[in-house]
Amino acid sequence: MSNRIFNFSAGPAVLPEPVLQQAREDLWDLSNTGIGVLEHSHRGKAFSTVLLQAIADCRTLAKIPDDYDILFLTGGASTQFYMAPMNFLTPGDTADYLVTGAWSKKAVADAKRYGRVHVACTSEDRNFSYIPSEVRYSGAPKYAHFTSNNTIFGTQFQKEPTPPAGVPLICDASSDIFSRPIDVAKYGLIYAGAQKNIGPAGVTLVIIRKDLVERGSKDLPVMLQYRTHAADDSCYNTPPTFGIYLMGQVFKWILSQGGLEGLAARNEDKAGKLYAHLDRSRLFRATAAPDSRSLMNVTFVTGDETLDAEFIAFAKARGLDGLKGHRSVGGMRASIYNAFPPAGVDALIAAMREFEDQADRDGPDGRG
Ligand SMILES: Cc1ncc(COP(=O)(O)O)c(C=O)c1O
Repeated sequence: MSNRIFNFSAGPAVLPEPVLQQAREDLWDLSNTGIGVLEHSHRGKAFSTVLLQAIADCRTLAKIPDDYDILFLTGGASTQFYMAPMNFLTPGDTADYLVTGAWSKKAVADAKRYGRVHVACTSEDRNFSYIPSEVRYSGAPKYAHFTSNNTIFGTQFQKEPTPPAGVPLICDASSDIFSRPIDVAKYGLIYAGAQKNIGPAGVTLVIIRKDLVERGSKDLPVMLQYRTHAADDSCYNTPPTFGIYLMGQVFKWILSQGGLEGLAARNEDKAGKLYAHLDRSRLFRATAAPDSRSLMNVTFVTGDETLDAEFIAFAKARGLDGLKGHRSVGGMRASIYNAFPPAGVDALIAAMREFEDQADRDGPDGRG
């Protein structure tokens, strides 16, 4: 693995090395069938085994109760921005949205096509650098929607919000799914594009309570009804077989790492080290409010765009790739998802130290 570098990409992102190695073999020949995983029929025994095992492992690792369906859909998390409201909202209904970033705003924009949206809180006043502590729900919303981790702004809900009793909670968990234990029973629907924490781009994990599956509109094209996919273990049409296979391998890897508790400890450790360094640094500072910091996407700046660009190039020359922040925040973003190795965080801190020392030597403005 000598030619692999540290990949801080926000997504698609780093995958566990044992998973990639296994995939390399299974691409050629899956379980001694003489056929690679990409070439198997989704209706055949070999792929069915893969699919059912992925569902079983997903259920085990997140302790998903039996009254929830586990679906593997396509169209990315962005498709859920409209699929959820299409299923659960009719004109005149209201849904509550907690607006904590660009992805929440996109979800709101799509929901507005199907019903009314009540913004229950927003942190847009300070460029989404914090998670609001106060949430004001409307009277009886059809559901409440939030984004558990804001990939772009580096903020994360420390615990799930509590909507009024009986209101289903819908979560876009694209960038922190399975990074820590989750009490699925508190949710009506959880969705996540796989490409950050649990697999490749092209497959979206949907965990949905069965009564919501039933409640969904029947007036939609079949592919847009959750019941279609729930009735057939996501095989109504040809599902994203490779994505499901790889996600299944990632689930196995998560189980081998001590499950969600094991990953949470590792993720806290990685992010903790990085934030501790940022809090000590003379040059860099974290942009997210301390009580809202994400364990997945650590956003930071020097306060000087030229210096930021210099650091990104400096880090890249040391094998640390993908650190450029999103344009709406600027600076740097270190995405350190589940599969990101702790050694990469140590390497980033070492590069920051080296850059700080160099800036000190170069003069008070950091550029000599
Ligand atoms: C929190 C969040 N939601 C939704 C999306 C959109 O996901 P997709 O590209 O799978 O549609 C992203 C992508 O980065 C994201 O970070």
